[in-house]
Amino acid sequence: MQKLTLDDIDVRGKRVLIRVDFNVPLDTSDDGSPCVGDDTRIRAALPTIRHVLDNGGRAILISHLGRPGGQPDPDLSLACVADHLGSLIEERVRFSSNTVGETVEEVINGMSDGSIILLENTRFDAGEKSNDEDFAKALADLADVYVNDAFGAAHRAHASTAGVAEFVDTAALGRLMEKEIAALTRVRDDPEHPMVAILGGSKVSDKLGTIRALSKTADRLLIGGAMSYTFLQVLGHEVGESRIEADRLETAESLYEAASDTLLLPSDHVVADAPAADAEASVVEGDIPEDQMGLDIGPATIDTYRTAILDAATVVWNGPMGVFELDQFAEGTMAIANAVADATDADAFSVVGGGDSVSALGKSGCTGRISHVSTGGGALLTFLEGAALPGIDALTDA
Ligand code: 3PG
Repeated sequence: MQKLTLDDIDVRGKRVLIRVDFNVPLDTSDDGSPCVGDDTRIRAALPTIRHVLDNGGRAILISHLGRPGGQPDPDLSLACVADHLGSLIEERVRFSSNTVGETVEEVINGMSDGSIILLENTRFDAGEKSNDEDFAKALADLADVYVNDAFGAAHRAHASTAGVAEFVDTAALGRLMEKEIAALTRVRDDPEHPMVAILGGSKVSDKLGTIRALSKTADRLLIGGAMSYTFLQVLGHEVGESRIEADRLETAESLYEAASDTLLLPSDHVVADAPAADAEASVVEGDIPEDQMGLDIGPATIDTYRTAILDAATVVWNGPMGVFELDQFAEGTMAIANAVADATDADAFSVVGGGDSVSALGKSGCTGRISHVSTGGGALLTFLEGAALPGIDALTDA
């Protein structure tokens, strides 16, 4: 179903409530105050914000940050994000320590067209996650028009991502949403073959639906990260101390049976006795010794996976191959990042998403060589699985 976009609405003189995903990692600046650790998601929201400001709208930004549990938590305030956004967009960005209510309404009513405000973390109110009608209405009271540009949170049926849309006349997609939907639809519904999907990360359980869906469309499904040890255990391999999901063995077995034509598992591993900076790493083929754990894919697996990726016309990657934060277990993930970038240089269409994969891409220096770097983690998996995204479904049909 097509949804309204910014091209369909006139924002001039309007209060435009923009749901962005400013759920970004925080850091501490030299003076001890909180600051933004990675601003990828803030930069990704700039086209929508710029559109509203340049066309004479008032931009009222809302977002969640972290999981404060429905009550204020000063460590998860968006105040430092407002400062960061101000320096990126070169405009004064006001900040409101209230998210809804009369005080906020007064401030917004006093704003001039073409100006911008960021409201405090929506998850400071318990009504956000429960999609409470009163909280959704209170958000809608701030707006003439609602724009959802928070792709990363589109799989959540929360008040600011879905509920609010019911109480406004017009609810449209932002530019980032449009871009994400176009790239991911191409991969999900109409991929050019051969298509290679690479899935890593720790848990099979997080990716069940996505593995099932991708095993039907992809020609090759390359598995890495801790979740490969759950599959390997099911196939009768010794996995030593590797992290597995003992309660998911049956699920992994049925997934493997359904997908065995396309699914590839690591044949060798970088192992150590702990995922520690001073751990001594070695490479083993096949079984993992009982006092060791798998922490990265080994060189033979890298070769096999790289060959498959370079042969692809479409590549999707989510989830690291190992504990890439530690140098001795980073090679597999870095090799995948480089292979995906090389395939893209050779004309493949590539999509990479998920916080860890995007940060691994950054570490490899390959970010600029990928066709589409998604801002979604859970939302990306949900989209690829073909499941509903409440943050998109709630918007006004075109
Ligand atoms: C994300 O980082 O995946 C989104 O911002 C959603 O955050 P959540 O998993 O806390 O809902």
